[in-house]
Amino acid sequence: MAGAPTRPRPVPAVTRPRPLTAAGLLVAAALVVATVLLAGMAAVGTGRAGDPDGAARAAPAYTPSAAGTLRGLAPPGTLIGTAVDPRGLNLDPAYPGVLAAEFNAVTAENAMKWRNLEPSPGVYAWAGGDQIVDLADRNGQAVYGHTLVWHNDVPDWVSPDWPAQRLREVLRRHVTAVVAHYRGRVWAWDVVNEVLAEDGSLRDTLWLRKLGPGYVADAFRWARQADPDARLFVNEYGTEGRTAKADALLELVRRLRADGVPVDGVGFQGHLDAERPPEGVRGNLRRFAALGVRVAVTELDVRVRLPATGEGLRRQAAVYRDVLRACLDVAACASVTVWGFTDARSWIPGYHVGFGAACLFDADFRPKPAHAALLDELAARRRTGG
Ligand code: XIL
Repeated sequence: MAGAPTRPRPVPAVTRPRPLTAAGLLVAAALVVATVLLAGMAAVGTGRAGDPDGAARAAPAYTPSAAGTLRGLAPPGTLIGTAVDPRGLNLDPAYPGVLAAEFNAVTAENAMKWRNLEPSPGVYAWAGGDQIVDLADRNGQAVYGHTLVWHNDVPDWVSPDWPAQRLREVLRRHVTAVVAHYRGRVWAWDVVNEVLAEDGSLRDTLWLRKLGPGYVADAFRWARQADPDARLFVNEYGTEGRTAKADALLELVRRLRADGVPVDGVGFQGHLDAERPPEGVRGNLRRFAALGVRVAVTELDVRVRLPATGEGLRRQAAVYRDVLRACLDVAACASVTVWGFTDARSWIPGYHVGFGAACLFDADFRPKPAHAALLDELAARRRTGG
């Protein structure tokens, strides 16, 4: 095949995720079976229909597809991850079983955002993030940290009226405290998230206005100091294909690295519309990889207009598959992470009115055509060794 991937693929973590030994695999398999059984029993026990925002969702017990699981079929060194939502974890009986069985990496969907971690100055609320990291350990999953510096989810107590020096110090403390807390347990961090405006200039945020453009480099240096082994990423949306914004991101990363800033990777969020998929994803990932960084698809979901039709779900499946393919074709691509795996908990209907059904599993935790398409792609590559 043209553009065949170069092997061997790099293991994304320096030491994480640890390869499972045979004994570890047995334990992991037993855990998955136990979780699935428990989840099934709990589902029978509750027997209630759920709603996306709060209540538990009853669902039939999950049984892995005869074709295998995503993590089972993933090539060595490639992470297939999902964002984790504690509501799903704590409320949906089927959620933990699917999470453990299908994915070998996780990202906290919201639990590690600043607003949630430090509700008041110096008072940290680690429980949500810790729950996810502890579970990931038990499941043999790598953890991708999300996110240190963002214009959203800054706690209300951080005041835009503070002088620059105070803001800078508060940001430094935040980055340092969070990275240090998860040191050795998070293989990579989104150090800065969505720092570009649509036209490719640096986004007009509190941080840019008060601290100037140097805040980006500062954040990377603080993060490196707090955990020298964690890979440090810039994360962005609208840059999956060859857009003007992607050009600007490429230039930003090139310049940062030329200045000696420790940028190790570029994350492409991948919040996609099945009707308007990005073009040239593989070539785009490659040109970033050529800078010497890792790349990753960090927040993949593919929304369709509601009500979802069979045709919509088929298109969605093709988009999911194309993105996975692009990543697998680029040796520096460390992971594909979906932004939640069940339509029961997806953020999409709340943010993109009229759209939804964006995930690999439906609201009842049944696998959709997109899941089958990913399994098929992974299995095909196993057969051909590609
Ligand atoms: C979203 C979460 O999925 C929602 O639950 C939350 O209400 C808002 O944030 N880009 C990002 C993610 O980097 O953190 C966002 O996650 C989705 C867009």
